[in-house]
Amino acid sequence: MIRTENLTRDFGGGRGIIGLNLHVPKGTIYGYIGPNGAGKTTTIRLLCGLVRPSSGRAFINGVEVIPAHTAAIKRMIGFLPDIFGVYDQMSVWEYLDFFSAAYRIPPKERDTRIREALRLTDATYMLDYQVVSLSRGMRQRVGLAKTLLHDPEVLILDEPAGGLDPHARIEMRRTIERLRDVGKTIMLSSHILPELASVCDVVGILKDGRLVAQGSVAEITDKLREKLILVLAVDGGVPHAVRLCLEFPGVDEATAAGNEIRIVYAGTRATVADLNARLVQSGIRVTSLREEEPDLEQVFLTVTGDHAPAENG
Ligand SMILES: Nc1ncnc2c1ncn2[C@@H]1O[C@H](COP(=O)(O)OP(=O)(O)O)[C@@H](O)[C@H]1O
Ligand SMILES: [Mg+2]
Repeated sequence: MIRTENLTRDFGGGRGIIGLNLHVPKGTIYGYIGPNGAGKTTTIRLLCGLVRPSSGRAFINGVEVIPAHTAAIKRMIGFLPDIFGVYDQMSVWEYLDFFSAAYRIPPKERDTRIREALRLTDATYMLDYQVVSLSRGMRQRVGLAKTLLHDPEVLILDEPAGGLDPHARIEMRRTIERLRDVGKTIMLSSHILPELASVCDVVGILKDGRLVAQGSVAEITDKLREKLILVLAVDGGVPHAVRLCLEFPGVDEATAAGNEIRIVYAGTRATVADLNARLVQSGIRVTSLREEEPDLEQVFLTVTGDHAPAENG
């Protein structure tokens, strides 16, 4: 539904996006993740035809994003910008009616479309609210409803959870899932990986204008983690167990905390059983052995090479 071929937009000085090959199949939620300044908004603007590429091409449902196809592209895409106009002096209904007219939706259909869009974003109760009175989370819902008015096949949402509190983020996640369930293809951006990663079928991680990893969250974490982290619990004999672990081929580190030993293991999953067998044969009573869950935040920082803690907002 969304495809790019070596899409490039060069702003000079190494800024912009370079040689991007994206592929977003119909009906998927694609998470476009990268730190601030990585080029997410630039990519999104290229896909919507708001910025022209320096080279390369972009396609929405097979239609190339070029000025001659503007009308067709606009019909297919619902775009939620990272910052959208406020139109404070209007009610939510007036705001959406205004955009229905802009989308050339026939007057007779507008009311139905507006109500359907608000239903999908759980914002029906806001119909008569003044836009000025809405919280950030409510505004995001109304903004999302606006993108749905013309019933586009593709939704492109730039930082839809940006600035939302945790509760509003969970609601946004549910709304996005609901939109996928009614058949939309959704691309959303975020500078915080774990924020919306759980709803994404595929994520692409962008760094300095280049896609550095792409796949399901599980695939990416697996690929990036060269080493397994094992946590072993033993019933007594901790120092002896630590020594045995360190002697085992592939064990880089083994540190004890209480009756648990945390092991950094460069071997394969298949040989974890051999390590366990070695300990048991040496008289160590192993009470549990598990693999530590990868920390998404850590994975993101590893890929983007950014070791500062991700900002929370
Ligand atoms: N119109 C522009 N002219 C020059 N540089 C730009 C322009 N738009 C974006 N940039 C630069 O391109 C880079 C990527 O920006 P952007 O796409 O907004 O990143 P993100 O959305 O991932 O935070 C940044 O370094 C930004 O300063
Ligand atoms: Mg941005």
